[in-house]
Amino acid sequence: RSVGVVVVAAGSGTRLGADVPKAFVQVAGRSLLSYAVERVTQVAHLARLVIVVPEGHGTATALGDVAPVPEGTVVVPGGAERTDSVRAGLAEVGEVDIVLIHDAARAFTPVAVFDRVVAAVAAGASGAVPGLPVVDTIKAVDADGTITGTPDRAGLRAVQTPQGFDADVLRAAYASGLSATDDAALVETLGHHVRVVAGDPLAFKVTTPEDLARAERLVASWAA
Ligand code: CTP
Ligand code: MG
Repeated sequence: RSVGVVVVAAGSGTRLGADVPKAFVQVAGRSLLSYAVERVTQVAHLARLVIVVPEGHGTATALGDVAPVPEGTVVVPGGAERTDSVRAGLAEVGEVDIVLIHDAARAFTPVAVFDRVVAAVAAGASGAVPGLPVVDTIKAVDADGTITGTPDRAGLRAVQTPQGFDADVLRAAYASGLSATDDAALVETLGHHVRVVAGDPLAFKVTTPEDLARAERLVASWAA
């Protein structure tokens, strides 16, 4: 089966507050995007890589230290919301059987996580997402902050990326005009079977300066 991967890297990184878009923030002298792409290029049966970068960000700048990328890799501009960026990437992914959508901000996601997601879709699920058990008790609240429910933690997962899908299903989901907070939610809403596979703590999302410090420590630990 052929796999296409869309790496969304078009966000500005407001919460990180760096002077460049988050995917281009450096960790030990390399961009977050370069770490993400390094892992993606090791995915089995990779047929197409699409990198979605901020509008106005040139291809050369985008790739910068990201090379080497597979032949046929395309770089396209994203949009205002993550959904817009995914849509732009999806339009360039071409004829593949399985599409993975991955956040550049989850730059250290191990290849094994990608492989588990692909395996679940190849085995027949319409979609598969990596997830971890939640450690905190989660409360549902109303607008006043009054608790309306306490879902059983055993049945909850905190999900990560890459999120993988049957390519036709994901295309149909994006064509539906519905919107949702993540790609899996869109596919679930249309009634498809989406599975959670084991995630990995290393698939954490670099969101805040504390996360960036964690990334620096992680890379330093590899160099040691
Ligand atoms: N993303 C994107 N296009 C957008 C918004 C987000 O491609 N319009 C990408 C980001 O580059 C990131 C991933 O989606 O790899 C997850 O988004 P998030 O962590 O929220 O990144 P930002 O939106 O850049 O950060 P912030 O919300 O703090 O501004
Ligand atoms: Mg964001």
